[in-house]
Amino acid sequence: MAKKKKIEDLVIFGGESLFLIPKSTSNLLKPDFEKFMAYSKLFFDQHQYTNNGPNVKLLEKRLADFHQTDYCITFCSGFWAIALTISALALKGKNEIIMPSLTYRRMADIAAWVNLKPHFCEVEPATLAMSAATVLPCINENTALILAAHPIVNCCDVDGLVALAKEKNIPLLFDSVESVYESTASGKVGGFGNAEGFSLHACKLMNGFGGGYITTNDASLARQLALMRGFGFEQMDKIVVSNGMNAKLNEIHAAMALASLDGVDEQVTGNRQHYYTYKRLLSAISGIRLLEFDENHEAGYKNIVVELLDEWPLTRQDTISILNAEKILARPYYSPPLHSKPMAFPHVSSDLPVTDMLAERFLNLPCGQLVSNDDIVDIVEILGFLSANAGPISRRLHENSVEPYEYN
Ligand SMILES: Cc1ncc(COP(=O)(O)O)c(C=O)c1O
Repeated sequence: MAKKKKIEDLVIFGGESLFLIPKSTSNLLKPDFEKFMAYSKLFFDQHQYTNNGPNVKLLEKRLADFHQTDYCITFCSGFWAIALTISALALKGKNEIIMPSLTYRRMADIAAWVNLKPHFCEVEPATLAMSAATVLPCINENTALILAAHPIVNCCDVDGLVALAKEKNIPLLFDSVESVYESTASGKVGGFGNAEGFSLHACKLMNGFGGGYITTNDASLARQLALMRGFGFEQMDKIVVSNGMNAKLNEIHAAMALASLDGVDEQVTGNRQHYYTYKRLLSAISGIRLLEFDENHEAGYKNIVVELLDEWPLTRQDTISILNAEKILARPYYSPPLHSKPMAFPHVSSDLPVTDMLAERFLNLPCGQLVSNDDIVDIVEILGFLSANAGPISRRLHENSVEPYEYN
């Protein structure tokens, strides 16, 4: 039975919230507790809590197998995994890093930490992904590295980017944080470019409470990264071989990540069911388009992104405010884009009309283990209600100048 019958039933106009527990766009995976405890017992019994203990070693082996790469090096976060790999790979004497603007909100800060200037490139309107064509105009004599960040649904054109980087002799690092489970026409994500970076943050497909890792087939890069994350010294602190820091993953995080990895196929099966529920129900609502996963390749089906088309009758901000008030924590997709934010550090300023346009149109909807099929029915039903009653909702919102609602 419809839960909202009249516009006064919306929380924003004094009604009761659709959900008691917020429905988030974060994964917040709870892996099998017994598995987590069994892995934890391993390091506890050996009395080794960090510094390349049994779970970190096992996790690195398992992740390298999972991504079909020669090496995996774990880190305390995806941020530092990517930052240290950039500093290992960037061409010396050059100071620009090419990255999309429509991406992870802290990506430009990563460049700043390694003393490089972000040089923002456009993305393709059909895929929201950077491509060889959008990167090419940004390449110049200062280019130190291409940071190829996949969008959160499907992947960039990996082959095109690999070919361009090879032709121009520029190191290529993929940010594959949102593409852990994905495959492309050329194989599984993990082994492309010089290296690929992933996160084990609790909101991601693989939950290690926090953490990150790099996969690569380059033995000397793997060795260098393993040194850098552990202070950069060899032989009991006798020789300092690189600019290191403490960026190690500890054992309890590795135990959690291993338990998550054990359940990843099952998790993806659940995600796929949720995605199909969204797909089926959203197809009945005009003005809203689900970004579809490419069924020709493997995908994690975690992220649910919709486009509000021109005929969608409410603004995106009003839509988000209304949903957030109902505890549906919808979020604008990578908005504002990085190039439009004030930055206290050096960057190459760019004019990116495609990114500006796209940054206004997309929305992430709740997903992951804490969202059920029934929740999705309710979420889509309320979207249908908003579409059908947009005129009076919008008038009432703006007549009374209701403050934009933001759930924190
Ligand atoms: C695309 C992308 N890259 C990098 C990161 C950084 O990962 P972490 O949170 O593990 O530092 C994130 C985190 O959300 C991300 O979404």
